[in-house]
Amino acid sequence: MGALSVFALSRSRRSLSLVSLALCILATLDILRPQPESKTQSFDAKQPTRPDPQRQPEPEPQTQTQIMDLTHLAKYELTPSFTYSRRNITRKASDGKRETLTKMDGVALFNTPQILGADEVWNRSTSIESFTPLTLHVPNSPEVDTSIISFGIATSADRLPDAFPNLQHWLSNTSSSLYVAVSDPQENELPELQSQLERLNIKATLANSSLVFSAAYFSLIKELYDARTDKTEWIALIDDDTFIPSLPTLLTHLNTVYNSSQELIISAASDNFEQIRLFGIQPYGGGGIFISVPLAGILSQPEIWDSCMSSESEQGDQIVNECLDAHSPVRPTFDLGLNQMDLHGDFSAPAGYFESGRQMLTIHHWRSWFQVDIPAVAAVSKACGDEGILMRWLFEGDVVLSNGYSIAEYPRGISETDLKGVELTWSDEVWKYMHHIGPLREKMGRDQKRSFGMVETIVLEEGVRQTYLERAEEIGMKKVGMDRVVELLWLFD
Ligand SMILES: *[C@@H]1O[C@H](CO)[C@@H](O)[C@H](O)[C@H]1NC(C)=O
Ligand SMILES: *[C@@H]1O[C@H](CO)[C@@H](O)[C@H](O)[C@H]1NC(C)=O
Ligand SMILES: *[C@@H]1O[C@H](CO)[C@@H](O)[C@H](O)[C@H]1NC(C)=O
Ligand SMILES: *[C@@H]1O[C@H](CO)[C@@H](O)[C@H](O)[C@H]1NC(C)=O
Ligand SMILES: *[C@@H]1O[C@H](CO)[C@@H](O)[C@H](O)[C@H]1NC(C)=O
Repeated sequence: MGALSVFALSRSRRSLSLVSLALCILATLDILRPQPESKTQSFDAKQPTRPDPQRQPEPEPQTQTQIMDLTHLAKYELTPSFTYSRRNITRKASDGKRETLTKMDGVALFNTPQILGADEVWNRSTSIESFTPLTLHVPNSPEVDTSIISFGIATSADRLPDAFPNLQHWLSNTSSSLYVAVSDPQENELPELQSQLERLNIKATLANSSLVFSAAYFSLIKELYDARTDKTEWIALIDDDTFIPSLPTLLTHLNTVYNSSQELIISAASDNFEQIRLFGIQPYGGGGIFISVPLAGILSQPEIWDSCMSSESEQGDQIVNECLDAHSPVRPTFDLGLNQMDLHGDFSAPAGYFESGRQMLTIHHWRSWFQVDIPAVAAVSKACGDEGILMRWLFEGDVVLSNGYSIAEYPRGISETDLKGVELTWSDEVWKYMHHIGPLREKMGRDQKRSFGMVETIVLEEGVRQTYLERAEEIGMKKVGMDRVVELLWLFD
């Protein structure tokens, strides 16, 4: 597999280069201080962030020199000097539950960054010193029978290939089946798409759909219901950009919280109240709509079906809602783990979600309303498993890794109460999102929070390498300070 993604970062610009200088000095001081014993601890609001100064300090982790080829950094056109730090990470599988924050008291994520010249990225043997590997615990995914769910997507032949990296992450090599209603296929296009999906080991059925999008979407219910097996319990309607970080966790959640023998429809509400005001309280399709087989059976009865299919609504999820309103006492159950994500912006806009440590069962709008390469974020799962995606660790020095998305430094410290809330990183008002993702807190400036955003995740022979980059601040047209790079290599077992 090649490089998965490269995307530009743009950041708020507030503080002075003095901050980066101060950070460099602080980091240097930090490394001179003996590091207390490494200890993994799960989230507890009453615990202070800082380690107990009374505790016996342990010797700091050893560093090791390694000769590295950093030519892959050339494409970022870094400032004439930039800082570089790296760390190897070994994943240790655990049976525990996935926490929203794991505290690593006294453990630093990386050692004092080295200052390199931009020309050095052309030298294939740069000498880099880093701490010896860090061990992070990541729970195993639950074991589930994935044949209990069938997914349906209505899309066009043009758009479908864009969904492959998404589907490949969570649908390949599973027993779940996929039905795609494809509009406007060219001659021979369906067999080609079909064999591409087969190569990804996805159990897919493609059909030429001559229906308008909204009707094609609604018709998935009956197609999936008619194609059900003895094992099918859930019928899921998703968009071609609905991402599922961990299918085993999604299914375990559905099966433990709900009873699929009953008539149920589980979905996301929009996380933006403005959308709810506009479209009403209805299942919002992008977060995924999960219909139990008994309810799908009721909606597929000829009289109900024909009446619902005659709707002139332009949105498929609205037809689902109208159909329930007209023919069933069942109302949607809104599940907070499913995320419609009706928010706009660049890479940094949805940071609050991805830095919350909360387990997201679905993620939507990542390549339209905002731009985050979620398959690249999730690629680290090849080394750490699905539960490690966007898992969060708090390291010595108020440094937080949101695995796959960012590394954030809080030079003025960060409280655990703050880390429990979601930072309102996108430009909008708190009240619109509180019902879905609260508690929310104010966006932090660059003087309070320094962020390295993931710019590339690549699967190598020895592990998965994540490159995180913080661009130097631009004041006027001028760059002030240095670009800063951190790389993490999650080693394969
Ligand atoms: C490349 O880096 C190595 C180790 O840091 C150094 O010894 C060597 O002189 C450098 N070569 C060039 C051409 O800069
Ligand atoms: C990190 O892992 C790579 C690949 O196994 C290895 O070559 C390198 O020496 C390791 N570096 C450190 C500092 O442990
Ligand atoms: C599916 O399994 C095959 C064979 O074990 C493996 O090569 C491939 O990488 C897997 N695909 C994914 C997306 O995990
Ligand atoms: C798809 O269906 C439409 C309408 O039934 C038909 O006109 C078209 O030729 C079909 N396309 C393919 C590639 O089969
Ligand atoms: C699930 O619902 C069915 C049908 O109402 C019922 O018979 C069964 O006992 C329920 N299962 C559980 C675990 O509650």
